[in-house]
Amino acid sequence: MSSNKRILSGMRSTNPQLHIGNYEGALRNWVQLQEEGYELFCMVADWHALTTMYEDSGAASDNSIEIAKDFIAAGIDPKRSVVFRQSHVKEHAELYLLFSMITPLGWLERVPTYKEKQQDMGGTEREPYGLLGYPVLQTADILLYRPLGVPVGRDQAPHLEIGNDIGARFNRLYKTEVFTPYKYMIPEDENRAKVPGLDMRKMSKSYDNCIYLSDTEDAIALKIKNAFTTPTKLRKTDPGVPEGCAVCQFLRLYSPNWEQQWAEDVAGERGCMQSKKELTEILLEYLRPMRERRAALSDDDVRDILADGALRAGEVASQTMEMVREAMKFR
Ligand code: TRP
Repeated sequence: MSSNKRILSGMRSTNPQLHIGNYEGALRNWVQLQEEGYELFCMVADWHALTTMYEDSGAASDNSIEIAKDFIAAGIDPKRSVVFRQSHVKEHAELYLLFSMITPLGWLERVPTYKEKQQDMGGTEREPYGLLGYPVLQTADILLYRPLGVPVGRDQAPHLEIGNDIGARFNRLYKTEVFTPYKYMIPEDENRAKVPGLDMRKMSKSYDNCIYLSDTEDAIALKIKNAFTTPTKLRKTDPGVPEGCAVCQFLRLYSPNWEQQWAEDVAGERGCMQSKKELTEILLEYLRPMRERRAALSDDDVRDILADGALRAGEVASQTMEMVREAMKFR
């Protein structure tokens, strides 16, 4: 029943900027699938952002514009693909509500990301009901488009699993075949998806160790200049330890002759300054098309793209909801 070329994915609007970890871990894969001819639905999950930042709801909304801009800068073509905001297609809320009626609590309490987020929020007092329902909303996001597959990073696997379980449960309860199981489309090159932060911790806004897709050339050069390298390598001739050096890790991802560069680093034949300089050149070149596409886009352009996306997404969503109401005899 699912249109066989349709795929859907999304990112929350918790931050105004996407970083290169988001790009390598997910977005790059979306662009590739778009180029392979899949019908891609790219969603800004602005309601999902509220599960953790409900006090900052205006920011979750404003960030959506910037995230959509980053999608397009990264190579999502809004003519071929559908770029939209979750909150613009109200059917997400309706399907979420109906799924919440048929989802056993135990399934949700077992989701590992729920336990993590619960701890992040510090105690149960402030923990909203919406956080528990997060995977149910994500399931509605996905099944509303009856997609062939969902391209995401490996961290999303538990959510995708629950989604297919809810779809199967719906089919069983209402003796229908509205929902077909979708595939998890996790990037094959998972090494690439693991971009470390500039300090070798996980790349994250809260650590202030990110390179953003929207960073200026100067900002990128400065960040690389200050990036973490082998602490015991004070002189060029000191041996480096590339496994623990952020600059070397980035070279491995982006430099065609990283093996030679690593060997020289270990042998004390190259200094960190040289590696930083070479990395800066390579990375600026790699991100140049994104900067150019971003510069050509105004906020109004993005608003128009999102309005058009809401219409196109809404068409599929309303068809699915008709099938759902029919199956439930809720007419
Ligand atoms: N939970 C996803 C994340 O944190 C974002 C998301 C929301 C999503 N709805 C989705 C991803 C639907 C894929 C499909 O990255």
